[in-house]
Amino acid sequence: MVSVARAHPNIALVKYWGKANDELIIPVAGSMSMTLDKFATTTRVELATDADRFTLNDTVADAKATERTTVFLDLVRHLAAEADLDTATAYANVTSVNEGPTAAGMASSASGFAALATAAADAYGLELTTRQLSRLARRGSGSACRSLIDHFAIWHAGTCDATSYAEAITAPDMAMVSVTVDAKAKKVSSRDGMVATRDTSPYYQAWIDVTKKTLNDMIAACNANDFTQVGQITETHAHRMHAVINAAQPPIRYLAPVSWQVFDEVAAMREDGLEAYATADAGPNVVLICRPDDAAAVAARVAPYGAIETFAPGPGAHLLDTA
Ligand code: PMV
Repeated sequence: MVSVARAHPNIALVKYWGKANDELIIPVAGSMSMTLDKFATTTRVELATDADRFTLNDTVADAKATERTTVFLDLVRHLAAEADLDTATAYANVTSVNEGPTAAGMASSASGFAALATAAADAYGLELTTRQLSRLARRGSGSACRSLIDHFAIWHAGTCDATSYAEAITAPDMAMVSVTVDAKAKKVSSRDGMVATRDTSPYYQAWIDVTKKTLNDMIAACNANDFTQVGQITETHAHRMHAVINAAQPPIRYLAPVSWQVFDEVAAMREDGLEAYATADAGPNVVLICRPDDAAAVAARVAPYGAIETFAPGPGAHLLDTA
């Protein structure tokens, strides 16, 4: 059995930062994102008899990445056993090609686990709905559950495995412009950073409370098709996430000086009448949102700060034809 799936990263406008359940990856609050149309991960899963193997970008993955893949495949095997499938005891050769920067806050784990969930479920003979695939991808990396969804997704926090999944939401037409100021892997993984924030940041409860409210405000802004409101909510929320993280002990700082310069440049653009807003995940790279017609002008303004890519809303994870 060979299955190939392709998935794109997503960038959250309302961020996920904090788990209510570490094992099941149930977040403390919901989140909302745009799926990108570039930086895809393409993953091939072929069942094998002797061991799990994981190759990433033509290189055999290190022990940590291989272990994370095996733990994920165990979930798929568990579902196969529940469905009484012969594949339940099979190992898998997993081959992934990642077109974007890996582990530098450009959501490579989201595209990675969305592609792996989709390909592995198919290779093991499971017939899962998009909602079930979203739940499965969530177990690999929380934000991956949103990469199952076309264009814009809302991840319902839920309270258990069955109720924590992403689904589509309609949002104002927009483009994203990413500014990759540093393509190296980040020093503190989002997994470790979330635990440290929960355990040591005195602002954690305030962050949870405000994120729940922010998601409701974001849904209202999307329903009103109000780009300005969506942008303002996005930028304020990004600052709040970095603030709660910065307040951990020892402090964690994902943004670099040049990241702040990009935030300043975006504020200057707005003063010049070019409407854009900025956000950043758990790394130094900054992502801007703007109206599609403004994307070229916005990209030109931030080009001095890093490598630029422009994105439209992209497709959710899907199988590729292997015939
Ligand atoms: O899914 P993870 O464990 O890679 O965490 C993602 C965390 C952020 O990217 C910072 C926020 C988000 O909602 O994507």
